[in-house]
Amino acid sequence: MKKVILDCDPGHDDAFAIMLAVQHLDVLGITTIGGNCILENVTKNALKVLEVLDRTDIPVYPGHSCPMTVPLVTAPQFHGETGLDGPVLPEPTVKPRNKHAVDFIVETVMNTDDVTLIATGPLTNIAAAINREPRIVDRVTEISIMGGSVTFGNWTPTAEFNIYVDPEAAYRVFNSGIHVKMSGINLTRQCCLTAEHVKKFREIGTKTANLAADLTEFFIDTTIKSASLSGANMHDACAIAWLIDSSLIKAAAMHIDIELKGELTRGMTVCDYRHLRGADPEIDLCREPQMDFRGEKPNAEAALELDFPGFMELLYKTLKNYN
Ligand code: RIB
Ligand code: CA
Repeated sequence: MKKVILDCDPGHDDAFAIMLAVQHLDVLGITTIGGNCILENVTKNALKVLEVLDRTDIPVYPGHSCPMTVPLVTAPQFHGETGLDGPVLPEPTVKPRNKHAVDFIVETVMNTDDVTLIATGPLTNIAAAINREPRIVDRVTEISIMGGSVTFGNWTPTAEFNIYVDPEAAYRVFNSGIHVKMSGINLTRQCCLTAEHVKKFREIGTKTANLAADLTEFFIDTTIKSASLSGANMHDACAIAWLIDSSLIKAAAMHIDIELKGELTRGMTVCDYRHLRGADPEIDLCREPQMDFRGEKPNAEAALELDFPGFMELLYKTLKNYN
């Protein structure tokens, strides 16, 4: 099992990321970051979800409450005032650990080989860990993030929320040398859950499946109202599924950088896929750029296509394995 640290801002879709990661990966710890909601709430939400999964053995470390240089932007219109509105969950019986997320990330990576980082919220904690101890760059296997986009944004026409909230942190991560697997909005929009999926969750009948149903029902409602979409995109779960079963996602190597200055483009993930123009998508998507490629060497893989039926098969199987 891959050893991972999951940095997240639960968040309805972060909760699904936790469900998948906890069962299929060796989660050394969960770190939390202000994003969908304030730090106190996202931390409490992570503890609540772990309690439903009967995995209170997994430690939770609170991280930064706000981005590196700008005020925090939250998303109550999608996740509610608590950050996990919809399901009624009891107060957690376990407290977060008395250590900062950045300290946990640095200490764990410096003392444990082959750790993969996962980030499904703003990248502030990850960037702070790299600044604190640059040697982690050469020690982590890679980082799988939900964030950015190869095409359109969601928070702005060009920027996705996680990157938009802390573009300076994203810039640090994408330029650190750590290999980035980017599940952007262009990919996660393909992971669209509807009332049909809620019905199937309820048929499973366990407390975890009922939590999944309640979360999805609420997220469908807010997504339709706030983004006029047809269902709930389980964005963050895609970044986990990619690590569990790489056949679920088709990706391409490319250079990705972060726009920090543009009035209309701040927070945009600028993806250079000129080497793919005219490429045969069936053969060339993951090819290394040809020598005539004018751009910079790829620092990332960008997810392009999701096997959604395969993703749902993994999710149903996972939910059936919980109580
Ligand atoms: O843009 C989608 C991302 O923003 C997801 O991680 C969601 O949880 C929110 O954090
Ligand atoms: Ca998130």
